[in-house]
Amino acid sequence: MAAAMTARTIDLAARDAAIEQIAAKLGVPAERGRRFAELTSLRVGGAIDWVLSPQAEEQAAALVFELAQKEIAWRPLGSGSNVLADDGAHHYVILTVKELKTDPVFQGARVSVSAGYSLPRLCIDSARRGLSGIEGLNGIPGTVGGALWMNAGAFDQEIGTVVETVRVARDGRVVEIPGREVKWNYRHTSFQEGELLLGATLVLHPGDPEKIRARMEEAKGQRMATQPHGARSAGCFFKNPPASSIGTGKMIDDLGMKGTRKGGAVVSPKHANFIVTEGDDARAEDALALAEEIRERVKREHGIDLEYEVELWSSESEPGAVATGSHNSTGFFDPVATAPGSDTTEEES
Ligand code: EPU
Repeated sequence: MAAAMTARTIDLAARDAAIEQIAAKLGVPAERGRRFAELTSLRVGGAIDWVLSPQAEEQAAALVFELAQKEIAWRPLGSGSNVLADDGAHHYVILTVKELKTDPVFQGARVSVSAGYSLPRLCIDSARRGLSGIEGLNGIPGTVGGALWMNAGAFDQEIGTVVETVRVARDGRVVEIPGREVKWNYRHTSFQEGELLLGATLVLHPGDPEKIRARMEEAKGQRMATQPHGARSAGCFFKNPPASSIGTGKMIDDLGMKGTRKGGAVVSPKHANFIVTEGDDARAEDALALAEEIRERVKREHGIDLEYEVELWSSESEPGAVATGSHNSTGFFDPVATAPGSDTTEEES
């Protein structure tokens, strides 16, 4: 055990030195001591070893290249509005795209925008210019990068349908790939873990600014009336099942589960597919236990296996720096099986 602990300490120390060196060389702000509870909208989740905040797309591309060279595991984070990270200590780097937020560049019906820009702000900017196509996404509290990653959608619109190109980090450079090469599925895309999204060019449709604004207001009003706002949530927790005519929210509601509580996590009384957290003692394990109870009841009553819509991030396994992974039985992302090249500093514990 002592030998294993020593090995781990040395490995982490060597990794930390490498991170410091990379961050200094590229001029990327690097922070220690942050927690997922501060960086995600559910306000739960454990300690993060490092948060790196690249300030420009090119710098971010260079950063992931250097991290991959050293086999240092990382995950990208935007607003943290679709992530449930567990309460453990997460021994990987969080690469926040929040500083990649230069003003969008509009040219006719096209807009080029960076990953860290606020999605609602982009919706408002576009509506002001009389550009339609994303007005329904106005109330989604995320970054453009997060929206691209999961093909965010609401009110019959999805971001993937208006993407002309996406900028990604490849071999240390910013590379533009056509939107049609990406699979834009329901709340899911073909982007892989280890791929950093830096920005996109969207093609919108010219329209009447007043009508666009009215649709935007209508979507916002509907959202305010039917979904919790100001609460600590990650939006809808589960996807709507593809083969069911009843949505997940209605199913959970019909089971009488609104208001059901586990520790600091509650099924929202407003929309049953939202789990909200309350109080200073709320933990990720509360939200996960509640989610699993919902899944069990829905399975028992309807025979349906609900699929998580939020991303579950585990501290037990590290993301592969350049590899892909899969979700294990609890839904937590588990890259180990498919990432032979990933960092193995935790394996002795
Ligand atoms: N309903 C209930 N009880 C509830 C919730 C909903 O009876 O607690 C009923 C509603 O009255 C309505 C039906 O279920 O008749 C559908 O509800 P809603 O219009 O709220 O749509 P949803 O399918 O629950 C989806 C998306 C939302 C998106 C809205 C509006 C998913 C999982 N959810 O919700 O997306 O904002 O449509 O377009 O696809 C998200 O992605 O995080 C999200 C919240």
